[in-house]
Amino acid sequence: MNSSAARDKAPEHIPVLLGEVVEALRPKDGGTYVDGTFGAGGYTVALLEAAQCSVWAIDRDPEAQARSEVLKEKFPRRLHFVPGRFGDMADLLAERGVSQVDGVALDIGVSSMQIDDRDRGFSFLRDGPLDMRMEKSGRSAADIVNSWSERELSDIIFTYGEERHARRVARAIVAARVERPFLRTLHLADVIRAEVRRGNDGIDPATRTFQALRIAVNDELGELERGLRAAERLLRPGGLLAVVSFHSLEDRVVKTFLKSRSGAASRPSRHTPANLGAVSATATFTAISRRPITPTEREAAANPRARSARLRVAERTSAPFLTSVAGGLS
Ligand SMILES: C[S@@+](CC[C@H](N)C(=O)[O-])C[C@H]1O[C@@H](n2cnc3c(N)ncnc32)[C@H](O)[C@@H]1O
Repeated sequence: MNSSAARDKAPEHIPVLLGEVVEALRPKDGGTYVDGTFGAGGYTVALLEAAQCSVWAIDRDPEAQARSEVLKEKFPRRLHFVPGRFGDMADLLAERGVSQVDGVALDIGVSSMQIDDRDRGFSFLRDGPLDMRMEKSGRSAADIVNSWSERELSDIIFTYGEERHARRVARAIVAARVERPFLRTLHLADVIRAEVRRGNDGIDPATRTFQALRIAVNDELGELERGLRAAERLLRPGGLLAVVSFHSLEDRVVKTFLKSRSGAASRPSRHTPANLGAVSATATFTAISRRPITPTEREAAANPRARSARLRVAERTSAPFLTSVAGGLS
């Protein structure tokens, strides 16, 4: 833990829908699983404790690797940490001699450790550098805010932040950066708050713009699509995919992907009977349930972060993985 995290005494990440994810993956002795979002290792540990299996744990945040070292001592030879992106999981594992796995878990978004560490720049409540890079490298939120055009800013704030007042926020950002470039999170939060009033829902007006920037900085939706396709390549027939998402944009990507891969979106029209055409032969996944699994009231009350969580589970069929993307994913 770095100095500012220690100063803020950030609580460790509480895994969301943990029991449901483990139950969905049905870990078995001798099985091989991917935890594409290691974080604090909540899912990884639960899988390793549920069966004598092995877990390949991936995370793009360099700080996650240090946390995995402690756990590796507890699960020698069964826990393997791989630094990188889950969108590359098939290649990352192939490089390590693994071509098929029994289950893949993805817990999308940022961890409590990342949000609570003001030096990472995700928080609009605590001042820190306007950073938001999970990988600690590449283009930062400050780079985007200080250099993108008003139109580009407005587009991402509207699309990724679902902010009704995106144009106004973008205009205010562009006007303010002429006076002083944005380097700190609270500078940006204050400019947004001066522009957009807090609604009846009580949500801080900076929430949506910060979400948009985080998604853009880390290309989160693009990564999610790549991760789903990589899981399709890596899962053996009968292998299970469990994806936990936290907002409608992410859930839509997962839902659209599974719909297209389970054949539902491949039918030319809703009037075409499902048994016509080659849908069942080419479907690479079978959705385990139509509706997403959501937290119990008890979990939502105990962990506010869990409130918007949705888990979708699907089983890999024996059809070969698809190279193109069907069903509306860009
Ligand atoms: C919500 S946390 C996961 C928490 C974890 N399930 C646990 O129980 O501790 C998400 C983690 O995934 C990582 N992450 C997000 N996107 C990623 C990506 N595309 N590739 C690899 N890791 C990613 C983040 O760095 C973060 O550590």
